[in-house]
Amino acid sequence: MCHEEIEHRKLAAGGRNAVEAGRTAICLVGAARRFELTGPSIVRNVLAQYPQADLFLSPMGIQGLLQYFNLVQGCMDLIKSHESRENFTYDWIVRTRVDGFWAGPLEPSSFIPNTYVIPEGSRHGGLNDSLGIGKRDISAMALSRLSTPDNLVAAGYSGLNSETAFLTQMKLGQVSTQEHSFQFCIMSDRRYSFPPSQYTTPVASLDIHGPLNGAKCRPCRDPYVGQEADEIWAKLDTNRGWVEWRNGALGLCNATSEWEKDWGEVFDVMVGPIAAAERKRVAAMSVEECVSDLGVFMGKTAQWKSPDPVHICQLGLAKRTIVQSISS
Ligand SMILES: *[C@@H]1O[C@H](CO)[C@@H](O)[C@H](O)[C@H]1NC(C)=O
Ligand SMILES: *[C@@H]1O[C@H](CO)[C@@H](O)[C@H](O)[C@H]1NC(C)=O
Ligand SMILES: *[C@@H]1O[C@H](CO)[C@@H](O)[C@H](O)[C@H]1NC(C)=O
Repeated sequence: MCHEEIEHRKLAAGGRNAVEAGRTAICLVGAARRFELTGPSIVRNVLAQYPQADLFLSPMGIQGLLQYFNLVQGCMDLIKSHESRENFTYDWIVRTRVDGFWAGPLEPSSFIPNTYVIPEGSRHGGLNDSLGIGKRDISAMALSRLSTPDNLVAAGYSGLNSETAFLTQMKLGQVSTQEHSFQFCIMSDRRYSFPPSQYTTPVASLDIHGPLNGAKCRPCRDPYVGQEADEIWAKLDTNRGWVEWRNGALGLCNATSEWEKDWGEVFDVMVGPIAAAERKRVAAMSVEECVSDLGVFMGKTAQWKSPDPVHICQLGLAKRTIVQSISS
């Protein structure tokens, strides 16, 4: 049995404790859309599961692929500068998106040495990395890829989407990837044509029966479900790798319009009492309470590369829906 195999067995046996025995960096990237919904779910299902882990936050507005790669690289830079200041290296790096809504915990079985673990599906002809978990060296390889516009252009990849570029990079680096099921989806405000054609993005209903694996989602009244939904999923490009839609497991939203006016009620029914209570608490929050909440979040954060909490709270509570923070 090779060293990695032994290590993985130990992890599986020791579960959370074994992951905790190493040092873990959790890196949250992306635009904080609907953070009042996603934030509490991330705290509960990711951060609180690994209380010893350090948090790195690098949110900003994402505009296009180049900014996306800079963002990914940005988090690795934050981690490296923290490591060199503190003179140690992390064992594990978890990277996920601020706009992810987590319906269940991030399980320790997804921490596997020697491979980069990503969600099933949404491949867009490559690999989707809306979440990635790996040992430090492997994560560093995954996160520092093609990180500047110059590199991208020099490598001749300007025509690729983020997933195919990622896949190419992982192949070049001879890093293996493994797909796992994860109970999170990317909360989306965008409108999409419906029913989706072969190559347009489907928006899953938040009414989660199976793992959404980082699919786009929103709360919607009367989602398409059962056979009706299956027929639509079946017409989508198989490269998207939707493995869990069969037998009515995944509902679909007609996302041609904005979120419904009473989306809050729909959300509460779909996500269960804990997440519903969290939503209501945030919705009723004053700026002072928000700042104090974010203060707790900042306390966990090794590097805060975002606007200050007062600004985030004023923005978020004034608009109630979108906290779009542009980092300097
Ligand atoms: C950093 O850590 C290494 C190994 O633990 C040690 O040998 C070295 O002296 C440390 N450097 C500083 C500047 O503390
Ligand atoms: C992965 O899939 C999600 C959901 O379809 C999408 O929002 C995201 O842009 C994809 N790509 C990456 C690199 O996260
Ligand atoms: C989707 O919703 C729009 C209005 O929001 C409606 O006009 C359209 O008929 C709906 N499409 C389907 C296929 O349900």
